[in-house]
Amino acid sequence: MYKRILLTGAAGMLGTYLRPHLHKRWPLRSMDVKPVEKPMKGEEVVVADVADRPAVFKAVKGCDAVLHFGAISIEGEFDQILQSNILGTYNVFEGARRARAKRVIFASSNHAIGYYPRERKIDSDAQPRPDTYYGVSKAFGEALGSMYWSKYGIEHASLRIGTARPEPVDRRGLSTWQSFPDLLQLICRCLEAQRLGFAVVYGQSNNDRAWWDNSKVAYLGYKPKDNAEKFAEKIWAGTKDDDPNDPAVKFMGGIFCTKNPPKWQG
Ligand SMILES: NC(=O)c1ccc[n+]([C@@H]2O[C@H](COP(=O)([O-])OP(=O)(O)OC[C@H]3O[C@@H](n4cnc5c(N)ncnc54)[C@H](O)[C@@H]3O)[C@@H](O)[C@H]2O)c1
Repeated sequence: MYKRILLTGAAGMLGTYLRPHLHKRWPLRSMDVKPVEKPMKGEEVVVADVADRPAVFKAVKGCDAVLHFGAISIEGEFDQILQSNILGTYNVFEGARRARAKRVIFASSNHAIGYYPRERKIDSDAQPRPDTYYGVSKAFGEALGSMYWSKYGIEHASLRIGTARPEPVDRRGLSTWQSFPDLLQLICRCLEAQRLGFAVVYGQSNNDRAWWDNSKVAYLGYKPKDNAEKFAEKIWAGTKDDDPNDPAVKFMGGIFCTKNPPKWQG
């Protein structure tokens, strides 16, 4: 179905998990600013910064789908976020348009909607309420995806990924967790679905305590198999009682909603 897929952020935590699974299905070109370890047979590797426009345009050439995961993945100084996450995302979308790619799947984040209170149930129509410059950059990517779909017909999914980790590590994660196999399934559904159009999808497993409603994108056929609840006892026992007035507890974005979110050190 695809001649070759470009994966940015290939050396990161999610990229490293995804690479072998994706490459089994479609020839992969893996790009990161860091070296991509142990390329597989037939996998092409590009070491480049997404902020480097000519390098990105060259990397997208010959690819008919793009998974854009390369970014600063926590809060940073605005100028760092501007380069890697905002300019970088523009370069990827514009490169995809020039290369006539059919689909772009963008790793957005729950931090694009971090300031929704936890008692709200929100769905794909929820407008951004970013909690950081990082979250703002993800809202920007979603807006760009919307524009490239409406104007140029490039199908697009923005994945508002919750907490994609081997397992949840805190109480919040019981609501936000997405297992790696469920993330892979979601990406495959976005690439394989007959119609993608423009979709905003929450990257979450089938969690009992979920805050997010994916019913408006049910046509993708994403059916997560994991559930964070299996970790609930262990997590509940291992963590302290939460203060309900703490912004880290009140809002969906957790600690990113405080004045001291975890910061990228470069
Ligand atoms: N893991 C999660 O829970 C989660 C949640 C929400 C969103 N996301 C998003 O998914 C993507 C991957 O996340 P991750 O957890 O693997 O993070 P990660 O930090 O492990 O990986 C990000 C990768 O992007 C690369 N990168 C950063 N700046 C770059 C640049 N300027 N040019 C090229 N490459 C660059 C890094 O070198 C790194 O390998 C990110 O876009 C992140 O924002 C992840």
